[in-house]
Amino acid sequence: MKKRVTKAIFPVAGLGTRFLPATKSIPKEIMTLVDRPLIQYAIDEARAAGIREFIFVTSRGKSALEDYFDNAPELEAALRKKGKTELLEELKKTNMDSGAIAYVRQNKALGLGHAVWCGRRLLGNEPFAVILPDDVIAAETPCLKQMVEAHAETGGNMVAAMEVPDDKISSYGVLDIKEDMGSVVSVKGMVEKPEAKKAPSNLAVIGRYILTPQIMNNLNKKKTGAGGEIQLTDAIAQEIEESDNVFGFRFRGQRFDCGSKAGFLQATVAFGLAREELRDEFQSYLSGMEALRNAAE
Ligand code: UTP
Repeated sequence: MKKRVTKAIFPVAGLGTRFLPATKSIPKEIMTLVDRPLIQYAIDEARAAGIREFIFVTSRGKSALEDYFDNAPELEAALRKKGKTELLEELKKTNMDSGAIAYVRQNKALGLGHAVWCGRRLLGNEPFAVILPDDVIAAETPCLKQMVEAHAETGGNMVAAMEVPDDKISSYGVLDIKEDMGSVVSVKGMVEKPEAKKAPSNLAVIGRYILTPQIMNNLNKKKTGAGGEIQLTDAIAQEIEESDNVFGFRFRGQRFDCGSKAGFLQATVAFGLAREELRDEFQSYLSGMEALRNAAE
């Protein structure tokens, strides 16, 4: 029987330079869409997929992230006293059971592959998920849940993938497709950040993965790749050569690249409009702006 995916690694040790100066003192993952930090969206998605153990790869200056998951008894008591039960429920979602969450340190930002490798001692001999919290995905069925269901059929390694236009493809890891079966594709190669004309397809990898423990052996070699970083893509590509067990998964949903300013702003608008209590006011503000722009043109 295939093993269930119950552990997830959240690599959050990057420098977040695209959001300086904010990220000088707050972790990127604490930045907020409407009223919830990016990390909360990632945790909710993981829980919905059946994840029970949460492994954070952190670095210097990320203590706000660690504090975020602690219980806040004074705050809870105050909300209870005031009868603010809805807020209390929201707050409780941020609490983690004792022992469900672990932090390991990445001493130097050597790349995503290296960050994942830092979690190796906390994983058993079973498949695990990797979630990049700066990729936020709005979906009816949460993206990782879709993947866990598909992975129960395929096994092996699975990466979330989406079609990307030519002028953006060089920012991504790109799949060389062996067989296209619709939502699942089998993969015969993977290239990190190719030039547009050398990209093997338009199918780009985004920040959700289900990986076999073998990946850690590949990462052990600490080989650097694109940008001088230890790339997760390279370790997965090695699996294609050795075990031929890598799949891409076209998820249903909309992904926002909240690691970039434009993506973060787009997500703010989308998640703002999705909130019932904000929709009318926000929508009329946006329509007013549109009208002003049209008038100016
Ligand atoms: P990014 O490529 O977005 O890098 O990392 P970054 O440092 O977070 O942001 P910029 O580019 O400087 O603005 C993708 C994911 O991999 C993690 C990041 O925390 C993010 O979740 N990461 C990256 C690490 O944990 N360690 C690394 O060495 C590199």
